[in-house]
Amino acid sequence: MKLYGALIAVAAISLAAGLAGSVGALQPLLGIGVPYCALAILLVGLSWRVIRWSRSPVPFRIPTVCGQQISLPWIKSSRLESPHSTLGVIGRMGLEVLLFRSLFRNTRSRIDQGPRLIYGEAKWLWLGAMAFHWSLLVVVLRHLRFVVEPVPAVALWLDGLDGFFHVGVPVLYVTDIVLIAALLYLLVRRLREPQVRFISLFTDYFALFLLLGIALSGIWMRYFARVDAVAVKQLALSLTVFSPSLPKNLSAWFFVHLGLVCTLAAYLPFSKLMHMGGIFLSPTRNLANNNRMKRHVNPWNYPVKVHTYEEWEDEFREKIEAAGLPVEKH
Ligand code: HEM
Repeated sequence: MKLYGALIAVAAISLAAGLAGSVGALQPLLGIGVPYCALAILLVGLSWRVIRWSRSPVPFRIPTVCGQQISLPWIKSSRLESPHSTLGVIGRMGLEVLLFRSLFRNTRSRIDQGPRLIYGEAKWLWLGAMAFHWSLLVVVLRHLRFVVEPVPAVALWLDGLDGFFHVGVPVLYVTDIVLIAALLYLLVRRLREPQVRFISLFTDYFALFLLLGIALSGIWMRYFARVDAVAVKQLALSLTVFSPSLPKNLSAWFFVHLGLVCTLAAYLPFSKLMHMGGIFLSPTRNLANNNRMKRHVNPWNYPVKVHTYEEWEDEFREKIEAAGLPVEKH
């Protein structure tokens, strides 16, 4: 149900956008109104999430570590596994964000005959996640050619690199194939592994189908429907300078693509896809583990009436001495 529900939802959005896009009177709504609304929801939503996270109190240092903390000079500490400086935190965060380091160490467990608990490596998920995120980044950066004039050097460079094999006209992008393959792998893994399937929600499938829909409609436009890229750029540039004008010859396929992209933008702040920003605000990742170098006092501490040892000794001195027990003060 969750799987089909998500598939039907994405198909319905595509169909609605495609149909509305083929009706001339509705094109301004779809080409101008919807993108601005989606962008506003994205910006307000992102700010709201980040402000809410940054306001959560973090009274303690709670970094997740898997290495020796810095302490005595003769004990070797681990700068990356248990970073004690900002530089170490940046290094670890950089490797996490760029190379998904913790996912690389992911393990799987199964019960074998015996019964015996077996732990094994699980590198496929890491590979699939890396392939998906990196190709998505390249695709999005390449899209800068539609919204920035003159086209930034990075977009041109990625364009050349991505079309390196010079296969077909228009040139086939490697990232298009990798993106689709990675998304299909992530979907099939969710369906084939019983435990993962059991915990999968509607939103897990919805995010995957939405991304697949965006990628497939983009690929369809580039290699088969051959949309007018000049018209698309005209619209995109007019939107970026807040002087929207809708060119005549925009195809319905473009509106399908744009409709799905706007859905993703508006949905992103309220979805699990916010892990994109969350990682940077995660106290288990962004705090240095300097608990033995520095005394961290809980800012919420309030004055508590305590009974010190000295006071206790003064109170019972006679009895302690009578019992022949040692005292600190004579
Ligand atoms: C999350 C954002 C987006 C993703 C993931 C995405 C994905 C893709 C993909 C995978 C393709 C296939 C060809 C290629 O890789 O360049 C494509 C093509 C295309 N996309 Fe997007 N897209 C996004 C946003 C947009 C936006 C906002 C626009 C409107 C300006 C747009 C307009 C187009 C057009 C016109 C093509 C055809 C390109 C061509 O003919 O070379 N896309 N998109």
